[in-house]
Amino acid sequence: MIKKYILGEPIDTESVVQNIEVSPGIPKEIAEVSECTFCIEMPEDARVYGLGETVRGINKRGWRYISNCTDDPIHTESKNSLYAAHNFILIWNKKKTVGYYIDTPEKTEFDIGYTDPDRLFIRLNSPNAYIYEITPDLTDNKSKACESDNPLTKVVRQFRYLIGQSYIPPLFAFGYGQSRWGYKSREDIYSVIKEYEEADIPLDSVYLDIDYMDSFKDFTINEDAYPDFEDFVESIRKKNIHLIPIIDAGVKIEDGYDVYEEGIKGDHFCKKEDGTNFVAAVWPGRVHFPDFFKPATREWFGEKYSFLLDKGIDGFWNDMNEPAIFYSEDGLREAFEKIRSFEGQNLDINSFFEFAGAVEAVKNSPKDYESFYHEYKGKKIRHDKLHNLYGYMMTRAAGEAFEKLCPDKRILMFSRASYIGMHRYGGVWTGDNQSWWSHLLLNIRQLPGLNMCGFLYSGADTGGFGADCTEDLLLRWLAVSIFTPLFRNHSAMGTRQQELYRFPHKDWMRGIIRLRYSLIPYLYSEFMRAALYDDMFIKPLSFVYMDDERACDTEDQLFVGESIMIAPVYTQNVSGRTVYLPEPMKMLRFEGDILTEEIEMPAGDHYIPVSLKEVVIFLRHGHVLPLVKPANTTAELDQSDVTYICNNASEDSYVMAFP
Ligand code: GLC
Repeated sequence: MIKKYILGEPIDTESVVQNIEVSPGIPKEIAEVSECTFCIEMPEDARVYGLGETVRGINKRGWRYISNCTDDPIHTESKNSLYAAHNFILIWNKKKTVGYYIDTPEKTEFDIGYTDPDRLFIRLNSPNAYIYEITPDLTDNKSKACESDNPLTKVVRQFRYLIGQSYIPPLFAFGYGQSRWGYKSREDIYSVIKEYEEADIPLDSVYLDIDYMDSFKDFTINEDAYPDFEDFVESIRKKNIHLIPIIDAGVKIEDGYDVYEEGIKGDHFCKKEDGTNFVAAVWPGRVHFPDFFKPATREWFGEKYSFLLDKGIDGFWNDMNEPAIFYSEDGLREAFEKIRSFEGQNLDINSFFEFAGAVEAVKNSPKDYESFYHEYKGKKIRHDKLHNLYGYMMTRAAGEAFEKLCPDKRILMFSRASYIGMHRYGGVWTGDNQSWWSHLLLNIRQLPGLNMCGFLYSGADTGGFGADCTEDLLLRWLAVSIFTPLFRNHSAMGTRQQELYRFPHKDWMRGIIRLRYSLIPYLYSEFMRAALYDDMFIKPLSFVYMDDERACDTEDQLFVGESIMIAPVYTQNVSGRTVYLPEPMKMLRFEGDILTEEIEMPAGDHYIPVSLKEVVIFLRHGHVLPLVKPANTTAELDQSDVTYICNNASEDSYVMAFP
């Protein structure tokens, strides 16, 4: 059951698609502490889930999370905000399961047992929000298609019904993708593809980072580095490989640049208080930000994607759309003035830090986010009042355009910044992580929250974006990412190159990627089921075994679809790990795509050795895992030749749902 409450005069985020009758007041479980602070009592045994892309565990108790889309590449557990704002929480104990969606585009704090271990505080930026209270619906008829039918999954399904169906990508988006911020030319891309071919490692896509553009200008091509772009795309498509270019939020200010000039003429850019266009800086230097809140601007910018679609491109990643701001013109001027004021002084502990911080402070400065405006639903609204919607609106511009430009084709689209609602237009990647073992674990723990919030098509930069990746980390990371819908190896300029063919044990990597391709029919089919029935594609164990305390405490094993459980290794220099089986399961050991062991195991703890070249999957009782022969691209997969691995089930009990 869904109840809707209104606090003050909230902004309609268009994240919700159902019309729900408004109930008076606020939910009775929520106490109003002050105008902007609300409190929910948390019983000692209550677990709290949700919040999508955040730091820390699957159970969110014991930290302060702030929904405030932020470009911060250091995702340590001390941080409060990452790139996304996903304000859905689910509180559950043996007596009660209840979800809350706090729908406001402003900064919102979820203090989940940080100030007081027994209380959850929600602190709003202003006293305006829609609050949705969701309790399990016992008449939910989609539950028939979802095996884990319990109060937790029922609340998630209700929430997902409220916010609408998740984005569905094309099949090739389930293939393996190689990316790096650093590919400079057509030759670099050809060489990556050639190396993959020579190493005989499957590959479906290669990503184009900002260097494919002319001076980092959206919807342009660097003709020197990428001459005859259309032919280039075509030559790669012949190999069944897709090129996926990046699109940034900021539009370079440059006379003669058509996108800039059209933007000025059409009045498409965000304004300052005095009505002049707001100037910020990102990769190309000074830019204007399109005001994606205006339907006409969305239409204009969305149509721009046809520049690349017409050249044979069928996928994109939208970046820097928090929006990230290196500096604003005003901020930079103030910083220079401040720095000059220190000249000739004897800098002591205080003044030195102030001096040193003056440059750092120009980046993503809260003052800048308060200094420009949008036009939304006919009103002029200051950016910070809408901040968390900016990335959503940018991706929506693309999604709305794709529906018009290519209604019969699925286009790959994912974004860095997001708000709930954007899940209908694209997926997300979890931004600039690092080649750290702790980030491999973070990746595992972020997936269930993202799934609850509708972001089924999601994944992390495999191998880590920042810092140098080691071979063992990459192997263990591949063994996780072969189960995530978005499977992309991406790294930053200046870090160790981490294309798979560069490593001594590339044959082990080949094997793991081949297993991914064998699993694609299962993964795509389960993904479709989750999307069509508002279910989660990746679930924590607690969503399957609610009554098993030990399973509920397990935050490093996941269900992928309904049939398989994974228990990844995420520590360095270990030969295996302890796996908890809440019920008897069949362990399937793969060396690459070759099944080497199939053994039924009783419930309980098991130490499972897993070497760097292996992947272990646990198949649920009464379930079937379909596998096909791997191929070098998804286009070449023969989905008619299926091998079924059964655990006390017959192969007829598996129905694949290919769309
Ligand atoms: C941002 C993105 C990263 C990309 C880089 C250059 O940091 O998050 O993925 O490689 O910009 O475009």
